[in-house]
Amino acid sequence: MAVYRSIDELIGGTPTLDVSGLSPNPSVRLFAKLEGHNPTGSVKDRVALAMIDRAEADGTLQPRSTIIEPSSGNTGIALAMIGRRRGYRVKIVLPGNVTDERRQMLDVYGAQIIASPAEQGSNGAVRLALELAEANPDWTMLYQYGNEANPEVHYRTTGPEIAADVPDITHFVAGLGTSGTLLGVGRYLKEHLDGVEVWAVEPPAGEQVEGLRSLDDGYVPPIFENWGGAELLDRKMIVRPRDSIEATRMLADEGVFSGISGGAALAGARKAATRIDAGVIVFVVSDHGWKYLSLGAWTHDLDVAVEHAEQVIYF
Ligand SMILES: Cc1ncc(COP(=O)(O)O)c(C=O)c1O
Repeated sequence: MAVYRSIDELIGGTPTLDVSGLSPNPSVRLFAKLEGHNPTGSVKDRVALAMIDRAEADGTLQPRSTIIEPSSGNTGIALAMIGRRRGYRVKIVLPGNVTDERRQMLDVYGAQIIASPAEQGSNGAVRLALELAEANPDWTMLYQYGNEANPEVHYRTTGPEIAADVPDITHFVAGLGTSGTLLGVGRYLKEHLDGVEVWAVEPPAGEQVEGLRSLDDGYVPPIFENWGGAELLDRKMIVRPRDSIEATRMLADEGVFSGISGGAALAGARKAATRIDAGVIVFVVSDHGWKYLSLGAWTHDLDVAVEHAEQVIYF
């Protein structure tokens, strides 16, 4: 067993699990990249660490600076954890209708929560954070949707990990939130392995699958444009909240306690498996299931669980 000097060293290097038993096509193997194994339980530890490191290196962040970020979930929690360790004040703008577990996690790491109107969703949180950052020029907004460090860290770490662990990968499937995972991993795999296709999972426009957004809902993240997202993605697959919850339960059958977007990614990977003759699909389980327990996603009647999931803002 290795001994690590700081929690930062425990970020990334996540395991990959062969879940080919869940493949609907015997000639297609399925592998889950388990990002819930990061210290705060999500892929966003990678992104928060990379954004803070970069802002320290270029002088944007100074000792005891204040960080403000609109986040309904994982990025806020990851920033709060790293910010606390490094002595920054962290303020997270949070829509009123996120699960209590998220608020509690932010409390654990001492972040200040600023509420934005629930009915305006995550776009309302972004608007309020931008207003506050403008009114307080000494606050730093790292803004994961527009921060190059987001796709870059996936290019530098997540992509190479997948290529090393599953070198015969033919398809990479992941959900699209900020698009950082798809862009960074996708670009790395296409540059370093032959013929890998990158397929994105999106909720239908106007519907919610936690962690994910539809580009058709009107907001295209700046990093998506800057990294040539439209050319990089080979295909988009629509996955509905019901499919996501069903697949989240299938992951539990394999012992994987995943957030709902991991279920969406599995649902997308299974759909992909029916559209190809043979192949090796790697999909991303972006976070652990802990923050979703209050939704009853595993235990309630499926209709009730879907209804709960649809009432909560996730990305
Ligand atoms: C739970 C969850 N799943 C998936 C995603 C999507 O990842 P990305 O932002 O890299 O597109 C996010 C982040 O927004 C997330 O929090």
